[in-house]
Amino acid sequence: MNKVIEIRECSAAYGENAVLHKVSLTVEQGELVVIIGPSGCGKTTLLKMINGIVTPSEGEVIVNGEALAECNLVALRRQIGYAVQGAKLFPHMTVRDNICYVPGLEKKMTTEEKQHLVKRMLEMVQLPVQLSSRFPRQLSGGQQQRVGIARAMAANARILLMDEPFGAVDEITRKGLQEELLSLQEKTGVTIVFITHDIDEAFKLGSRILIMKEGCIWQEGTAKDLMESPRDAFVRKLLNR
Ligand SMILES: Nc1ncnc2c1ncn2[C@@H]1O[C@H](COP(=O)(O)OP(=O)(O)O)[C@@H](O)[C@H]1O
Ligand SMILES: [Mg+2]
Repeated sequence: MNKVIEIRECSAAYGENAVLHKVSLTVEQGELVVIIGPSGCGKTTLLKMINGIVTPSEGEVIVNGEALAECNLVALRRQIGYAVQGAKLFPHMTVRDNICYVPGLEKKMTTEEKQHLVKRMLEMVQLPVQLSSRFPRQLSGGQQQRVGIARAMAANARILLMDEPFGAVDEITRKGLQEELLSLQEKTGVTIVFITHDIDEAFKLGSRILIMKEGCIWQEGTAKDLMESPRDAFVRKLLNR
């Protein structure tokens, strides 16, 4: 198997506040790893270490065989799609330009290629193509969220990092997006690390689930592993058992 992400005994802190304690994690090509755990346990911090937004205070992060401490982070981030709750679209760019931003950095795209990509991506996230000329402020929160997902997926990245990306959308759309994500992953073999606080979503998406507690990976396994042998009462509570 091909290791795409390796986190080796990494700790992280914000000033005096230590938030990750010697966390290790290996993700293979094509896995969909879901991270779940209570608010504040360090999920977002762990994800941000993978694209170098957070630098570990000790330990090493290796992506596609390259140590982050030694690689060009700008080039690396182009291979990594990043979708966060709240979307964070570029406010001064239309939906079309937001979606085409990263692929446009890779190669010069014709207007036709852009239109085709935008149409395909908007269909995937179930938005009408007419929205493509709007600016983010002219969209609802849920629509912005879906454009953010479309943008992350359009990057044709080998790795997708998703931080509660479906948190702000309604239940029906959320189910649809989960299906789309699974089918995208099946088609492209993209490696995904996905944070959620919804156990049903974790079970539906995750080929492997990591349960975090207080800056540590407390238990990991398939949904079946976790249901059959939860480590303790903390895990049982998280699983609603
Ligand atoms: N930029 C920051 N500065 C200081 N503390 C932070 C910052 N970001 C997160 N924290 C703290 O680090 C801990 C872990 O946060 P985070 O990784 O966002 O957790 P989660 O995503 O699991 O809710 C929390 O206690 C949070 O308050
Ligand atoms: Mg978070």
